[in-house]
Amino acid sequence: MTSTTDERSSRIPGFYRLDVEERHDELRERFGLSTEDLDILKDGSRLGVDRADKMVENCVGVFGLPIGLGLNFHINGRDFTIPMVVEEPSVVAAVSNMARTVRKSGGFRAEADESLMIGQVQILDVEDADVAVAALEQNKQRLLDEANAVHPNMKRRGGGALDIEVRRFDAPYPMLVLHLIVDCGEAMGANAINAMAEGVAPLVERLTGGRVNLRILSNLADRRCARAWCSIPELLLAGNGFTGAEVAEGIVEAYQFAAVDPYRAATHNKGVMNGVDAVAIATGNDWRGVEAGAHAFAARDGKYTSLTKWWRADGQLHGFIELPMAVGVVGGSTNVHPTLRVMRKILGVESAAELGMVMATVGLAQNMGALRALATEGIQRGHMSLHARSVALAAGAEGRLVDEIARELIAAESIKLDTARDLIAAKLRRKVG
Ligand code: MEV
Repeated sequence: MTSTTDERSSRIPGFYRLDVEERHDELRERFGLSTEDLDILKDGSRLGVDRADKMVENCVGVFGLPIGLGLNFHINGRDFTIPMVVEEPSVVAAVSNMARTVRKSGGFRAEADESLMIGQVQILDVEDADVAVAALEQNKQRLLDEANAVHPNMKRRGGGALDIEVRRFDAPYPMLVLHLIVDCGEAMGANAINAMAEGVAPLVERLTGGRVNLRILSNLADRRCARAWCSIPELLLAGNGFTGAEVAEGIVEAYQFAAVDPYRAATHNKGVMNGVDAVAIATGNDWRGVEAGAHAFAARDGKYTSLTKWWRADGQLHGFIELPMAVGVVGGSTNVHPTLRVMRKILGVESAAELGMVMATVGLAQNMGALRALATEGIQRGHMSLHARSVALAAGAEGRLVDEIARELIAAESIKLDTARDLIAAKLRRKVG
């Protein structure tokens, strides 16, 4: 395992206690970030309204969000420091804490499928469905050639349309659906797939005698899943007055709740996506697509359920996650947004598959953090300390004083503006005196 001082090690002890300038010094040293890179990180509006104006219609400005670093991740024997763009407090802290615990027992294991996406072509008004299905299947190569002619570069790079499948729906809405299975390589691939689905439509109509309506990718990217695992000796989970076995059992029972109850599964999976989305945004990926894929996958057996599994065996707590991961490292906004370029330097992923593995791992760690808190002290205590920081800020505390006052407010069991003001005033008096 990497030592704490290694270049690119994701273990940066005490990082949360540093101020932003000191954190930047770490980034300069570990990831070779330049002053220009660090200025870009600090100033989220570097995208610039002119570039933004080319991205969306009716553009009137640029919106900023915090970037936090998910630390301590050790995945498949490699360290990853993971930029996360998220507005919710506790997400980055929870995921980093869980990654630190898993790191002690060797880290996470992860894998990702090939970059296979599905393009859908909806076919209506066929006279004889059996004949139409046979015509499509017999002309598979022609359909693939037609699709690949739309994006010859993808094919040249070893990807492109590889296969078809035909799905048939009967009453109440009879239709055929042609799936184009496309290897998108290092791209998410939405534009290419949509163009291919549109490109094959005239041939599909000629072959089936039907009428093509929609031609669009499916966000249920179940050929492009990522999976992650972890195993933690239960002893490492002990804390806050709970034994390791109690924490492990609490996490397993929490998982079982989500496994049987869709009302709980929605919240459980929301916690998973807190982490997954934050990385999707930090890497310029379409997080709505990732969200849609995750939730559709969670309902793949006809009942909405948990994206993760947790169980106990051999004195260890074991965790597993599987979800579609339609993400790329080229194309989309990755080329446009200067902050994305800097975050890529920190993350250091080399392929879309590797990014998928990292994101699945973050989802698993995020879920573990939420379940651990929920099954032990509850999440309000963590939230209280964040609330205490906001109260300290509102009372006028700055810099390191914010955390100091927040701690004192919690100790005094009085997270109130007046108490915070009194504490600050008392400190100033002591300083003057
Ligand atoms: C809050 O953003 C996420 C949680 O509700 C997730 C969960 O309940 O598992 C804490």
